[in-house]
Amino acid sequence: MNEYRNLRSLFVMGLAVVGMTLSACGGGGEGPPKPPPPAPAEYADKHMPDGYWNNPEILEQGKAIYTGVQNIDVNCASCHGKNGKPVKAGARDFRRTEQMELYSDSVWFWRVNEGVKGTKMKPWKSKLSEDEIWKVIAFEATFGLKGKEYDVATKKWVAAGASGSAPAAEAPAGDAAH
Ligand code: HEC
Repeated sequence: MNEYRNLRSLFVMGLAVVGMTLSACGGGGEGPPKPPPPAPAEYADKHMPDGYWNNPEILEQGKAIYTGVQNIDVNCASCHGKNGKPVKAGARDFRRTEQMELYSDSVWFWRVNEGVKGTKMKPWKSKLSEDEIWKVIAFEATFGLKGKEYDVATKKWVAAGASGSAPAAEAPAGDAAH
């Protein structure tokens, strides 16, 4: 009788250990990629201004915002880490490409503008202009989606310059005149 009970509790303990080990190994604690909720209707038409993605000048300004250099009260890096690797528990890990490519530019804009209720992610709209939010987003994208941009038409992250909203692309050298 007792023996059976001991065996059973041993088995339960074993399961708990296996479970803990599995969750500890699950991709930095965030688990499998999860699509974010869709942006509210009033954000659906908010898109990255033309020519911002991967523009070195914009990225420079975005970095100054992200790291608190421009305004010490706005320091994304204090939670999300200088390199997109979170330094505060629960902050989104911007290096995880599989997670980051589930977001559209509109969803990012909405989240930075209004924050995520019930988490440490505050709304930033009182501290950042719309233009500044786009700049910080362009920078933040470089951690997991370097060299890519969000294509509004296909709703996909594509190589820089490949989307409809890209800056007027120069015809590639060698492209025969039509
Ligand atoms: C005090 C800590 C903190 C600061 C500062 C902070 N964040 Fe966050 N951020 C978080 C947390 C925590 C989450 C995860 C929220 C959740 O659970 O969905 C998050 C999530 C996000 C997300 C993803 C939202 C989603 O739906 O998954 C984006 C984008 C983001 N932050 C951008 C920024 C930007 C840009 C700044 C600076 C302007 C910033 N954060 C500053 C803590 C912070």
